[in-house]
Amino acid sequence: MAGQASELVDKFRWKFADSGKPRVYRAPGRINLIGDHTDYNEGFVLPMAVELACWIATAENGRNTLRIHSEDLQQYVEVPISTLSKARPRGDWSDYVVGVAVELAKSGVEIHGQDLFIDSTIPIGAGLSSSAALEVATAFALLGEQPLDRVALSKLCRRAENSFVGMPCGIMDQFIVTHGREGGAIKLDCRTLDYEPLQLPRGVAVAAVNTMVKHELGKSEYRHRQQDCDAVVDILSRRNPQVRALRDVTPELLEQLPVGPQLNRARHVVSENMRVTAFVQAARQGNLSAMGSYLLQSHRSLKEDYEVSCPELDFLVESAMELAGVYGARMTGGGFGGCTVNLVDRSSLPEFRSRIRSIFQYRFGVDPEVFLCEPAAGAGLFRI
Ligand code: GLA
Repeated sequence: MAGQASELVDKFRWKFADSGKPRVYRAPGRINLIGDHTDYNEGFVLPMAVELACWIATAENGRNTLRIHSEDLQQYVEVPISTLSKARPRGDWSDYVVGVAVELAKSGVEIHGQDLFIDSTIPIGAGLSSSAALEVATAFALLGEQPLDRVALSKLCRRAENSFVGMPCGIMDQFIVTHGREGGAIKLDCRTLDYEPLQLPRGVAVAAVNTMVKHELGKSEYRHRQQDCDAVVDILSRRNPQVRALRDVTPELLEQLPVGPQLNRARHVVSENMRVTAFVQAARQGNLSAMGSYLLQSHRSLKEDYEVSCPELDFLVESAMELAGVYGARMTGGGFGGCTVNLVDRSSLPEFRSRIRSIFQYRFGVDPEVFLCEPAAGAGLFRI
């Protein structure tokens, strides 16, 4: 990591030769072990920050302008501070940065002219939260020495994504990017934001396999699923005033719904919340086969009830289950492409990696990236 950071500083100096000595911030990507499409329903999630990360080298430039360079995309954007209050989204990566600057300014933080050199190892569109990492790294970079509260920061970054970028995401990604732990995952209650750590049993590894597809459907369908969930809450809360979100719905209450897609969506959320708790319990007992079966059940539910999977994800899950040392697999994140998360015996990892790559390549003609996901700390200043 230190090598990566000093290389970033060298590149920063080359790009912004007239700028001061940069500070370096790092914000990790994440993989969600279980609990998808539950966060915006005030339910439970079990994400883990990973070593893939977004890095920003930054220094004040005394020019009353944000100068922002993305090394991955080889693109550069300038935003005069005086235009921030009227800023409009451009529909590209810079919206995540500018959106956070706009939200910080709205919350009373003074934004100064600053140079930001961004470099990320998190693949874009793979469902590993490259955007939340960029938001949180930006917030840290712009705040500098100013005090910050990590919970407030997660909420602020989510607001930036909801209102500036226009993606109605829940809190999971921004929260784990700021609260990641080297020891493992966290079980987060998305209503109260209480969380507890979870260490995975010894000898087991988490691997992400990237379908390499990102269906454009993702964003619009995400919105539709939320609308379905809200409609169910509307119906159920009329007769059951304790229901404020799908989080409050029990399996028995589901019987009050007519058969149809909305019932299916709600059934996914209700059962997924229960699976998060059951998975955590199984992990604490070291029961790997139970953990694996919850992952598979989660995938089926996301595929059949929530309808956010795709053929590439289904194929990866089915193929993984045929391989030695695999306890369970499922799609992770929003769906319609991106990655699967696989629970694999550590000793079987090399074989898992090579077999899953060749099987997928044979079927789809594409080499899928495979990442070993070791738990990583949340975002912060990186001391060189
Ligand atoms: C995306 C969103 C998250 C969450 C997941 C699905 O990653 O950003 O808030 O809703 O989808 O679990």
